[in-house]
Amino acid sequence: MKFLPLISAIVLAIALIFLLWKRPENLEQSRALEDAGTKAAIDPVPEEELIPPPTHDYYREGTRTPDGTGKYYLGREIAQVMGHPAINWLERPARIQEENPVRAVDLLELPEDAVIADIGAGSGYYTFRLAMKLEKGQVIAVDIQQEMLDFLEGRKEMLGLKNVSSHLGKIHDTRLQPESIDAALMVDAYHEFSHPYEMMTSIVRALKPGGQVILLEYRANDPRHNIKPLHTMSQEQVKKEMAVVGLEFEKTHDDLPWQHLMIFRKPLGQ
Ligand SMILES: C[S@@+](CC[C@H](N)C(=O)[O-])C[C@H]1O[C@@H](n2cnc3c(N)ncnc32)[C@H](O)[C@@H]1O
Repeated sequence: MKFLPLISAIVLAIALIFLLWKRPENLEQSRALEDAGTKAAIDPVPEEELIPPPTHDYYREGTRTPDGTGKYYLGREIAQVMGHPAINWLERPARIQEENPVRAVDLLELPEDAVIADIGAGSGYYTFRLAMKLEKGQVIAVDIQQEMLDFLEGRKEMLGLKNVSSHLGKIHDTRLQPESIDAALMVDAYHEFSHPYEMMTSIVRALKPGGQVILLEYRANDPRHNIKPLHTMSQEQVKKEMAVVGLEFEKTHDDLPWQHLMIFRKPLGQ
C-alpha cells in the first residue's frame, strides 16, 4: 500500500506522455477534417443539382428608365448589372469618405470563425476587409462575372490571404451549399440582381438557421449623395423584399455617410 502514490504517479506520467505523443497526430487529423468541411462548404453546387425556386408572380414588365432593365420586382425597377470594366470605379479612393468601410465592417457582429459569403463581391473591396476581420473565418466571394473573380484572385495573392475563396454564381442561384454559411453580405449589389427572388431563395437556403443577411445599400432620396436612383434602396422596399423570402428584420445601422446597413435573420426553425 505504501507504494500506491508512486504507482499512481507513474501511471499518470505514462498517460501524459502518451497523450502528448498522440496530440500532433490528433491535431493534424482534426485540421484535415476541418479543411474538408470548409472545402465542402465552398464547393459550388453542380448545375444539375440546383433546386428550382418556388413558382411566383412577383415580376412585372414596365417602363425602362435610364440604368434600368424595365423588369420590376415588388414595385422596384431592377438596375442594370455593373460590368467589370467599372472595377476602377469600385476601387476609387473616394469610397473611404463616401462609405467609411472600416466602420461598416466594424458594425458587423460575427464570430471570428464565421463563414460569410460576400455576394456580388466585385473586385473584393469588402471581401478583403472582411477576411482581415475574420482571421479564423472564411470569406466566400461570389460573383457572376469571372473577370471580377480573376481580379479578386490576383489581389488575394498580393495580400497573401488564405481565408478567401472565389465562387462563380449564376444570375438566379449562388450555387452555395445548403446551410453552409453564417452570413451573407451584399454591398451595393442586391438592387442589380436580375432575379432577386430566386437569388434570395438560394441565399436563405445556404444560410444556417439563425444566420444573417446583411445589406449595405445607398440610401434612397438622400441629398448627401448623387448616386443614380436605381442604385439606391429605401429601407421600406428592402424590408418588403426580404419578408417575401421569410427573413426577419433585426436592425438598421444608419450612421454611415451614404448607406444604410440592414440586418435580417433566417428564423431558427426555417
Ligand atoms: C456594383 S458591384 C459591387 C461590388 C462590391 N460589392 C463592392 O461594393 O465593391 C455589383 C456586383 O454584383 C455582381 N452581381 C450582379 N448580379 C449578381 C448575381 N445574381 N449574383 C452574384 N453577383 C451578382 C456584379 O457582377 C457586380 O460585380
